Amino acid sequence: MNDKNESQENKPNNESNTMWGGRFKSGPDKIMEAINISIGFDQRLFLQDIEGSKAHCNMLEKQGIITKEAHKEIISGLETIAEEMAVGRFKFKNVLEDIHLNIEGRLRELIGENAGRLHTARSRNDQVATDLRLWVRDQSDALDKEIQNLQSALINQANKHVDWIMPGFTHLQSAQPVTLGHHMLAYVEMLGRDRGRFSDARKRLNENPLGAAALAGTSFPIDRHATSEALGFDRPTANSLDSVSARDFVLEFMAAAAICATHLSRLAEEIILWSSAQFKFASLSDSLTTGSSIMPQKRNPDAAELVRAKAGRIFGDLVTLLTVMKGLPLAYSKDMQEDKEPTFDAADAISLSICAMTAMINDLEFNRSCMKSAAGLGFSTATDLADWLVRVLSIPFREAHHVTGEIVRLAEARGSGLEALTLEDMKRIEPRITDDVFNVLSVEKSVTSRTSFGGTAPENVKLQIAHARERFLR
Ligand code: ARG
Repeated sequence: MNDKNESQENKPNNESNTMWGGRFKSGPDKIMEAINISIGFDQRLFLQDIEGSKAHCNMLEKQGIITKEAHKEIISGLETIAEEMAVGRFKFKNVLEDIHLNIEGRLRELIGENAGRLHTARSRNDQVATDLRLWVRDQSDALDKEIQNLQSALINQANKHVDWIMPGFTHLQSAQPVTLGHHMLAYVEMLGRDRGRFSDARKRLNENPLGAAALAGTSFPIDRHATSEALGFDRPTANSLDSVSARDFVLEFMAAAAICATHLSRLAEEIILWSSAQFKFASLSDSLTTGSSIMPQKRNPDAAELVRAKAGRIFGDLVTLLTVMKGLPLAYSKDMQEDKEPTFDAADAISLSICAMTAMINDLEFNRSCMKSAAGLGFSTATDLADWLVRVLSIPFREAHHVTGEIVRLAEARGSGLEALTLEDMKRIEPRITDDVFNVLSVEKSVTSRTSFGGTAPENVKLQIAHARERFLR
């Protein structure tokens, strides 16, 4: 414990929890309270908790389980609490453990005895499961918009740079020239699948656990369909044991976040490489970089580095919850209280990463000539030469590959590019080669020839941009 108060340490608190203290003579030991409380973090669920309570209360009244009068008092008390929370006037109490008991405790202060009727046919187990589903659902919806904004930024950059030529790499070795527009659109596709994963998870998540009570359901004549409808759920969950013990909806959300973070980390890594003095493909403005306290020339892409690092943190959050849930017997166990911090952390980290990445993509200025000269390095049009041998001379591809390899070796020995070799040089290796071969050796010719569906040719990229706008920005 941080704030150790020697005289109080480990002494039981004489005030027992008024929410469940009936069979307790004393309150919790200090260390018990310290390990048990969650109000420090689960207060983030207050809006969802109040929404859930209102829906439950309305249903109880409709079903004749509580009186009109109690209903009215409870709803108005909950609304007062919501206002207190909104303006930061609500006082959280550690002795009341968590957000659920804090709200109920305050309700009792505000309206008295009838506050105790709200918890009829309900348990904190189904309550917290409901709150967290609602919270994750809200996050999924917000993330969908944020990812869409990032896609929009990438599509704009693609549109500005449809035919800008850059090296395409495999193994980070020069492979074939590609267009920057095409490269940007690759990320638009990844992010589209990320949105798909969040939205698939959201569909499965959208069932209502409220009314499962502690684990077995309830003997009160509740209407779970009514609370489902009130809270925007598609239907009530089918099994009360599963309702209170399921957290796979969070795991799916975090898994989707982890995959999305992986994608962002790859783009972040590319921004870091591109903005180095060695690559010089792009630069970020002063507003999105930081300086060094010792090296005056520095402009560091810290935001990109942090996006790259957040992926590690989000994976950690996912693994934390997987490990917490592994092997837990049905139904609820207090272990599951440990679900919230990683969930909040992963949601915050992925959202921040997406927004920072959007700012960087909007900000990036590309360097056309550096990208283009780099695109020609490393014999990047060798495949074009091999394809020419196949197309024009009808040489089988494997043999064309071999011939091209010899020509590359010659260029390498001379320290020149393929284009700088003479026709005679090439004829010495393959006598049937003609002047026409020089039509395919430039990086421009290389990219414009790649017109197969999904390929890098500028005319394709234009079509792909229109298509991406249709699919993702509507
Ligand atoms: N604070 C608890 C949690 O986050 C709420 C549920 C507590 N349930 C219980 N039976 N103690 O999981």
